[in-house]
Amino acid sequence: MAESSTGRLTTRTLAMPADTNPAGDLFGGWVLSQMDIAAGICAGQRAQKRVVTVSLDGLSFIRPVKVGDVLGCYTYVASVGRSSIVVNVEAWVRRGRIGNREKVTEGRFTFVALDEHGRSTAVPPEHELPDYVRNHLSGDRPEDL
Ligand SMILES: CC(C)(COP(=O)(O)OP(=O)(O)OC[C@H]1O[C@@H](n2cnc3c(N)ncnc32)[C@H](O)[C@@H]1OP(=O)(O)O)[C@@H](O)C(=O)NCCC(=O)NCCS
Repeated sequence: MAESSTGRLTTRTLAMPADTNPAGDLFGGWVLSQMDIAAGICAGQRAQKRVVTVSLDGLSFIRPVKVGDVLGCYTYVASVGRSSIVVNVEAWVRRGRIGNREKVTEGRFTFVALDEHGRSTAVPPEHELPDYVRNHLSGDRPEDL
């Protein structure tokens, strides 16, 4: 059975020639940046306030990303502390826009929710979240690229 993605499809974009390394594949840093953006959307909605990235664990570059691939980042909230939120991110591509779908990268990003003074602040309990966030907290979303 084909591997399936875990989490919600949070961002989609197209891999462009300007972001390639000398070998013609996409820079790892570009892929990482797309993952950080998606994870930040997920964490910011869970926190309902500004968040910052504090750490990144378990990053694996599994397969290269090529120009013309559609890149999609799937996210879900793996755990919540007082002010910290761990977001699992999987990046998948649709090769050449219409080809095979493959997982290219995965990792776990930790964010901290900040108050207006830039200090860590408590993440709200789930029952206080708006429906558009709560509805996506449990279960996988079978959204395709
Ligand atoms: C986020 C920041 C305000 C936290 O400051 P701090 O003094 O460690 O704050 P606290 O001691 O209150 O810790 C806050 C939370 O962060 C967690 N934390 C702090 N550093 C961490 C790290 N490296 N990895 C994982 N969690 C971390 C703590 O465990 C704590 O979690 P909890 O509230 O859920 O228990 C500070 O580290 C910061 O400003 N970092 C820079 C973030 C940034 O600019 N990111 C973008 C980089 S370009």
